Amino acid sequence: MSGSGADRRIPHKDTQTRFRMSIEEKTSQTLKDLGAGTAEAIGELFAEVSAALEKEREEFVARGAGDERERSQSAKDLRDRWLARKSGLVSLIDENWLKKAPKELKPAVGRAFNQFRQRAKSVDTESLLCDVGQPEAGAKQGNLQFASASTESDRVEVSARGGLDLTLPGHRRSLGSIHPVTQVMREIEEIFLGLGFSIESGPEIESVYYSFDALNIPESHPARDEWDTIYVNSETVLRPHTSPVQIRAMEKHGAPLYILCPGKAYRHDNPDSTHATMFHQVEGLAVDTDISFADLKGTLDYFAKKFFGDKIKTNFSPSFFPFTEPSGELAISCVFCGGAGCRVCKESGWVEVMGCGKVHPEVLRHGGIDPERYSGWAFGLGVERFAMMKYDINDIQLFHQGDVRFLEQF
Ligand code: PHE
Repeated sequence: MSGSGADRRIPHKDTQTRFRMSIEEKTSQTLKDLGAGTAEAIGELFAEVSAALEKEREEFVARGAGDERERSQSAKDLRDRWLARKSGLVSLIDENWLKKAPKELKPAVGRAFNQFRQRAKSVDTESLLCDVGQPEAGAKQGNLQFASASTESDRVEVSARGGLDLTLPGHRRSLGSIHPVTQVMREIEEIFLGLGFSIESGPEIESVYYSFDALNIPESHPARDEWDTIYVNSETVLRPHTSPVQIRAMEKHGAPLYILCPGKAYRHDNPDSTHATMFHQVEGLAVDTDISFADLKGTLDYFAKKFFGDKIKTNFSPSFFPFTEPSGELAISCVFCGGAGCRVCKESGWVEVMGCGKVHPEVLRHGGIDPERYSGWAFGLGVERFAMMKYDINDIQLFHQGDVRFLEQF
């Protein structure tokens, strides 16, 4: 306990002396001179200067409207007293308290100083004039004041309203931005809208029939397992892909059909850097007479170059999906190494980006379309994956955590 005993020794300038000093005197001394050796004492000092600042600001506002020249001059004086670069009180506090603080107290002083510095912005000339109700100054600041007491009688009324001061400047709310997943989804939509596709949507809580049966996915398929798909009940699931919209759109519109379906999909995946329980897909479907695999290849090659840039090469390899026949996997030349081989493409130079294929005749039939007359192709891609490649992001979880520091970068 001897340590705390030592802390209790009376500093060489005791608190009483400190109280009698003016703000100028205090800010021209170091914390040590002032005997402020604990976080608590530092907190008190900053509370004191904040209160002094606020009091002077309030006095200025209360003096209120008068001769405009005089008002500008006293706003400038108040601003200079606190904010002048060299000799302002904020700079003195920086010089004498923060910079000269002992190492172990620096973090606490730094934090308190930053808060105080923010607060001190209320005495810059523009804020002061705005607070006193000078309309041009408010407009210049873009400051929306719902109620600004601009005359003496208004102000008296304000103070009568139990201390609620409507002349204080409003809180400025920062503008949000469009989520990167939405941005990428819109970019993909734009490309296909330009090719004559239209946008379709379907329910996220979907029947087992549309999610699996109509898509030719047999009862025995592992994707229908409870381990892979989230069931609401035995006939209803959270759709594990956007492909059910293919059937719904065929039923609704018939052929010919060129649709794009962006939306959410859900799977029973354990979250890690490349898997999430909820993610976004974009499904594409084209149904018409005389459609061949060459149309699919040409369209997806055009899309990949539009999205990732002209230098991108595409490569199709055989794959399997129950709802397409033949099925393929589209790979693009690695956006990170240009095809030379790197960690991302596992030294292969290629990255698989989506599944695709000619629509299975059985699926056309389920959609009410005659497979003897029409044929089609379809593809499905993961939006987060596209966004990760486009912006070099290595963790899918970042998209869904809502951390503003991540989101404001887009
Ligand atoms: N639905 C498939 C998936 O989620 C993707 C796909 C869509 C494949 C359309 C082929 C055709 O993996």
